[in-house]
Amino acid sequence: MTAVDAGGQLRPVGDGSELKRAYSCFPTGVVAVCCEIDGQPVGLAASSFATVSLDPPLVSFCVDNGSTTWPRLRGAPALGVSVFASGQAAHCRQLAGPAERRFEGLSMQSGPEGALLLPGATAAMACTIADEIAAGDHTLIMLRILHLHSDPSMEPLVFHASTFRALENR
Ligand SMILES: Cc1cc2nc3c(=O)[nH]c(=O)nc-3n(C[C@H](O)[C@H](O)[C@H](O)COP(=O)(O)O)c2cc1C
Repeated sequence: MTAVDAGGQLRPVGDGSELKRAYSCFPTGVVAVCCEIDGQPVGLAASSFATVSLDPPLVSFCVDNGSTTWPRLRGAPALGVSVFASGQAAHCRQLAGPAERRFEGLSMQSGPEGALLLPGATAAMACTIADEIAAGDHTLIMLRILHLHSDPSMEPLVFHASTFRALENR
């Protein structure tokens, strides 16, 4: 492991692999963004979740412009956002995997207006889409929270350097 000599080692942005490597140094949580459409669960996992505003209550995430799931999610009256707990890495992988098997074996909970929530998550929010902002090859989705539940005493799932990790007290 080497510390970055930021001044001396900076290079032009270059190709996507350097960018992905740098972005992966920033640890994040991961959320499931899900809803029910015509009785079918629809959703994906996203590590780009961020808190934005208290008043009004806004959170955001970024969706790849190539996503085949987002065009379905964006038509729903409400979206469920569930923050994965540390024991839910397998659920997270599944919700990022082949769309036809994303909900296999998962007992999702119905929230208001078709929002779908993952049981055992550390926080759950039912949201409406407040804005969609073009942002390069992604779109920044601004969500307004309508209802929520949370338990900060639960350990969250952490995504860092393309791996799932756990937090440690210092
Ligand atoms: C840990 C993790 C984090 C992810 N974060 C995002 C994200 O922030 N935005 C996004 O568009 N896709 C993200 N993905 C990919 C989606 O979960 C999903 O695989 C992708 O949207 C392709 O499926 P789709 O075509 O059904 O949308 C992530 C995947 C993993 C495993």
